[in-house]
Amino acid sequence: MSAVLDVNVVGIVRVVHAFLPLLRRSPNPVVVNVASGMGSFGMTQDPARVESQYTLPLYSASKAAVLMLTTQYAKALKDVKVNAADPGQTATDFTSGLGHSVSDGADSIVTLATIGPDGPTGRFIDRSGPLPW
Ligand SMILES: NC(=O)c1ccc[n+]([C@@H]2O[C@H](COP(=O)([O-])OP(=O)(O)OC[C@H]3O[C@@H](n4cnc5c(N)ncnc54)[C@H](OP(=O)(O)O)[C@@H]3O)[C@@H](O)[C@H]2O)c1
Repeated sequence: MSAVLDVNVVGIVRVVHAFLPLLRRSPNPVVVNVASGMGSFGMTQDPARVESQYTLPLYSASKAAVLMLTTQYAKALKDVKVNAADPGQTATDFTSGLGHSVSDGADSIVTLATIGPDGPTGRFIDRSGPLPW
């Protein structure tokens, strides 16, 4: 569990801290955390969602922490937009090729990485729009 949290959660804290000085030199600084529907209470409890069919306590707890880091950083870093993306089930090594294309999985990340100065902060989306926490 410590190893999972170190990569998935502490890794984000380390990277955000390391990049803050550079981000603050941008006229429109954004952070996109790659979360997962597996970290959403709403999605993992919804029988209509594929996320409810999996039981992954360590991964899910780490991604729930990513979502909370996102909303807390969005409040704390008022000059930086901090959002979370869910790629959705995507065909990578992680899923042994199950799910939609990597291009589809990257859509929500690209959307949040390219928001303008009036874009949102503290949101959680997939390629179709806002998601439940
Ligand atoms: N695939 C999905 O269905 C899905 C769904 C929701 C969310 N996500 C999220 O999307 C992200 C990418 O997942 P993926 O499906 O592309 O997984 P993946 O195919 O398993 O790739 C994981 C990547 O993370 C790198 N990595 C692992 N541990 C690392 C470490 N300690 N330091 C630096 N890099 C490390 C790996 O590098 P090496 O290749 O060098 O080992 C690899 O490039 C993850 O945050 C995952 O939770 C994926």
